[in-house]
Amino acid sequence: MFIAFEGIDGSGKSTQIKLFKDYLKSKSIDAFVTAEPGGTEASKMLDFIIRNFDIPTEARLLLFISDRIIHIKEIEEKLNRGEWVLTDRYSYSTLAYQGYGECMDIKMIRELLDRFCPLMPAVTFLLNISPKCAINRAGMHDLIERKGYEFYRQVSEGYLQLTKNDKRIVVIDASGSINDVHKKIIEKWENEIERTKSRISV
Ligand SMILES: Nc1ncnc2c1ncn2[C@@H]1O[C@H](COP(=O)(O)OP(=O)(O)OP(=O)(O)O)[C@@H](O)[C@H]1O
Ligand SMILES: [Mg+2]
Repeated sequence: MFIAFEGIDGSGKSTQIKLFKDYLKSKSIDAFVTAEPGGTEASKMLDFIIRNFDIPTEARLLLFISDRIIHIKEIEEKLNRGEWVLTDRYSYSTLAYQGYGECMDIKMIRELLDRFCPLMPAVTFLLNISPKCAINRAGMHDLIERKGYEFYRQVSEGYLQLTKNDKRIVVIDASGSINDVHKKIIEKWENEIERTKSRISV
């Protein structure tokens, strides 16, 4: 089973993925947690370039996609062995950030993703939160100020646009406490997803 966590910076992805892993552990499921960008040894180099150089948006887009191509190899090896993989960010990040946030051609991004990153998570939890709420969280103020509030508003709106007509994305209101959000994720998982798991391709 392949599951992704998505949302703007500060939405709580890293926090919630850890809690979800612990929840699965309590059900005797040992899930591997990974993240993008930089989830593999090789792609750490790409992540370094993405984070430290002011490169053209097109180059950054292709680095994110290269990063994912490398990542997918590693994820698929685990899925083929029947393991569970939880990823902190995946393809919807590219559509939301580069597409909606940086105003790149969404059709072109979709074509690249379809061609090079066909592996799709069975379920994606979108942690939905306004940039206004995220900015008040620890360590988030400077980051969100730096990139600009408007940028995050576009990314956040973009994520919601992506949920339209896509049943694999489960929108979670992520504005509550850490424990509230965790409970919402588990509730969705147990009530809806687990019941239909057999119908979801893994
Ligand atoms: N529901 C919550 N309420 C208040 N604070 C939270 C909540 N969830 C996470 N935090 C805190 O907000 C900060 C950001 O959370 P976290 O790192 O999980 O977000 P993230 O989505 O992984 O961000 P990034 O995309 O930047 O990695 C952390 O200090 C975390 O402890
Ligand atoms: Mg994080």
